[in-house]
Amino acid sequence: MLKTGLNIAQFRQHVSVIEEETKEYFKAWGECGEKNLFEALSELIILTASHCLHGKEIRGLLDEKVAQLYADLDGGFTHAAWLLPGWLPLPSFRRRDRAHREIKSIFYKVIQKRRQSEEKEDDMLQTLLDASYKDGRALTDDEIAGMLIGLLLAGQHTSSTTSAWLGFFLARDKAIQEQCYAEQKAVCGEDLPPLTYDQLKDLSLLDRCLKETLRLRPPIMTMMRMARTPQSVAGYNIPPGHQVCVSPTVNHRLRDSWNEALDFKPDRYLQDNPAAGEKFAYIPFGAGRHRCIGENFAYVQIKTIWSTLLRLYEFDLINNYFPTINYTTMIHTPNNPVIRYKRRSL
Ligand code: HEM
Repeated sequence: MLKTGLNIAQFRQHVSVIEEETKEYFKAWGECGEKNLFEALSELIILTASHCLHGKEIRGLLDEKVAQLYADLDGGFTHAAWLLPGWLPLPSFRRRDRAHREIKSIFYKVIQKRRQSEEKEDDMLQTLLDASYKDGRALTDDEIAGMLIGLLLAGQHTSSTTSAWLGFFLARDKAIQEQCYAEQKAVCGEDLPPLTYDQLKDLSLLDRCLKETLRLRPPIMTMMRMARTPQSVAGYNIPPGHQVCVSPTVNHRLRDSWNEALDFKPDRYLQDNPAAGEKFAYIPFGAGRHRCIGENFAYVQIKTIWSTLLRLYEFDLINNYFPTINYTTMIHTPNNPVIRYKRRSL
């Protein structure tokens, strides 16, 4: 159902929406300075994802109050929420549950208005309104609101941390950053006109840089499954009730699979077989039945944001500081992610 709403026709519209949102957001950065890149990209990704995945009405309602509700909802995304029962009277759980109710009631109004409207939009909200289960039943307002929230949150931390890490890899390797800028001109034209989806697909160096960022900094470090029935995995017997974990972080660094495993080398993907033919050597988006459904959207979003940023600014590390990893957050974010930037002259 959700996959139907993440298709190429929609991505074609998303590129210009994301480019415009990025230009507008970064106006506040001015000519040059030093700013927290991760914070900025987290805010921008809420705006772009809300616009593309929720539709223009919900994006239009996104003011500071709604942003605070998202922040409260997000505040419940902690190790405590993973391990403890959701009904515990912790302040962060209460704020999360209140924000959840309030966001849903905002969404209900938009959903109702859309249901009554004569005109049909071409977006995810419309896809969910028009969808039905196998037995023919349509989705309720509550189910649609829940799915919209789920989509936003599934892509929020993953895309914002990945975008921030990509920025730091490019700032550390100025030669690659300049090649990415040159690629913008080579693919899109010297005068850098507005981006299109077809051009985005041809930005192959930027693509490889993103791919390599996801290898070295996969936002989801571990995936877990519980065995419901006795299972046998890689020669081990897993009794019912036991968990099996797979870690992209580990698989992505195995020396048997990857040459110079810890180095940022986007050109490794020019080879046919960069991971020695291992099937699960590269799994930033998971694998199997619950594999990520947002991979293509994430690529469109992050590549559009970084194309726009590379055209606007040149980025540098400050005193050669490349962020260490903050292992205390659910998704491992960069520590002190401040970057130096200077506007480019065309
Ligand atoms: C760089 C960006 C992203 C990364 C690295 C990523 C990674 C992942 C991974 C590893 C999983 C599987 C989790 C598991 O097996 O337990 C997953 C699931 C999922 N992702 Fe993403 N994701 C990203 C962006 C997005 C975006 C933008 C969306 C929405 C548009 C999204 C929607 C989902 C959903 C709905 C699932 C659950 C699928 C299911 O359970 O069947 N993701 N993601």
